Amino acid sequence: MSIEEEIAKRRTFGIISHPDAGKTTLTEKLLLFGGAIQKAGAVKSSKIKDHARSDWMEIEKQRGISVATSVMGFNYQGIKINLLDTPGHQDFAEDTYRTLTAVDSVIMVIDCVKGVETQTEKLMEVCRMRSTPVICFINKLDREGRDPFDLLDEIEEKLNIRVRPLSWPISMGKTFKGVYSLYEKSLHLFTASKTVIQEGIQVDNIHDPQLDNLVGENNARQLRADVELIEGVYPDFNIEKYQAGNVAPVFFGSAVNNFGVKELLDTFIRIAPTPRPRETTLRSIEPAEKKFSGFVFKIHANMDPKHRNRIAFVRVCSGEFERGNTYFHVRQNKGFRFSNATAFLAQDRETIDEAWPGDIVGIYDTGNLKIGDTLTEGEKLQYTGIPSFSPEIFKEVVNKDAMKSKQLEKGLLQLMEEGVAQLFTFDVGKRKVIGTVGALQFEVIQFRLKHEYSATVEFVPQNIYKACWISSVNEGKLREFIQSKLRYIARDKEDKLVFMAESKAWLQMVQDNFPDINFHFTSEFKDPGS
Ligand code: G4P
Repeated sequence: MSIEEEIAKRRTFGIISHPDAGKTTLTEKLLLFGGAIQKAGAVKSSKIKDHARSDWMEIEKQRGISVATSVMGFNYQGIKINLLDTPGHQDFAEDTYRTLTAVDSVIMVIDCVKGVETQTEKLMEVCRMRSTPVICFINKLDREGRDPFDLLDEIEEKLNIRVRPLSWPISMGKTFKGVYSLYEKSLHLFTASKTVIQEGIQVDNIHDPQLDNLVGENNARQLRADVELIEGVYPDFNIEKYQAGNVAPVFFGSAVNNFGVKELLDTFIRIAPTPRPRETTLRSIEPAEKKFSGFVFKIHANMDPKHRNRIAFVRVCSGEFERGNTYFHVRQNKGFRFSNATAFLAQDRETIDEAWPGDIVGIYDTGNLKIGDTLTEGEKLQYTGIPSFSPEIFKEVVNKDAMKSKQLEKGLLQLMEEGVAQLFTFDVGKRKVIGTVGALQFEVIQFRLKHEYSATVEFVPQNIYKACWISSVNEGKLREFIQSKLRYIARDKEDKLVFMAESKAWLQMVQDNFPDINFHFTSEFKDPGS
């Protein structure tokens, strides 16, 4: 098969949602369709429930599960689908942000009772940064949810994206009848069965009297009125606009009842983008280019502390990856032979010989690879668009066992390379401050430092609101700024300059007072005017 055909066959995507909206359930149903699993209940939720905050076994268990479900590959109707798992717990949002750099599109699950929730809003921001195409699946239609038009308005307003319903619910909750596919012009009647998948009934003309027989007169009348309104209000579905990330098609269903999932999947494989060109520091790379290139978006530490090897997850961006070949590690400026590459299938890992754009390859690594690293066949380019985001909670690391400071250094470095959290080192006093998105990471770090590196640490909360990466086209002004704010200047892991702002109001004041300094909330930025 040619590389073009391999690319045309692939869809690499992630499912995102606020916890409890139904991500795990939908994942499982999609895998059932792909024949990747045989029975319901096989996919374990990768979420850590709130009550398990201090339960180490729970965290470790989840770490084990998340390696197995990090990437789930399956075939459906001749299409190779790679589904990348994202952690459900919001404290691990940074992991999710990074995983989103490796997908070509996203399915967003929204609970029809709760509507758009905070986590969904944050994740949508990340999709927007990369213009990632989004499909919305409004879930739990078997419950008394909100009015579908209100839900669409809320998505447009809160997620700041245009929507286009491609299916429409007929009633909801106890009286839920099914959905009408506006895309296929077919009616799907609801049965609360987890196993029977009913074929759609073709109803090309919504005014066809058989509709009244199928769903009842009142429901038929309501559906006709709704469809008329939809056709009048929302422009026709445009695949280019969806693939550019400007319009999100919307589906309705009930994942737990396996209802609306097949229609979602059938449409997904038709409209979702195949692997797309990607930006690097040198040029845009087309997936069909002959030479292999890819980047590391996730590192997973071995569960066994005695063995330090880790798995690096590499997204293939162009060319063919062949096991046993030597590839160029751009950051280290040297070649590496990858003889132990692994492919991911649902619940399983197996050695692979080749991989194509869109595929994810697992590489066993003993500490050479870190998140964001690029591999090529020799070209010195670096994939961009894998930034760090400003953390939200900051704590200073205090070593409680002076005999173990070497182990602590090593442990911190490795955990940071895995992307568990971000480390900032202040210029003054070389104080080390860890920044995370959620509180849970501090417990994870403390636990893992102790168990894997025998280092004992404590954390001292810091009064920091945001870490802002700073830059200026005027070198002199930048030096002046650093001098006047020395106490608040730190470096990130790549030695980039960071300003640690104490409060929102103070940051605003500093920004006003130093107009020549640019403040950025992600580690990757372009200076205006440069
Ligand atoms: P998440 O990964 O997004 O956090 O959500 P998950 O799939 O775990 O689903 C959260 C809860 O919502 C689960 O119930 C699940 O069964 C339920 N659910 C998913 N889809 C639907 C649906 O279409 N309708 C209804 N009514 N419920 C749905 P749970 O009680 O938390 O867990 P479980 O004991 O059922 O596994």
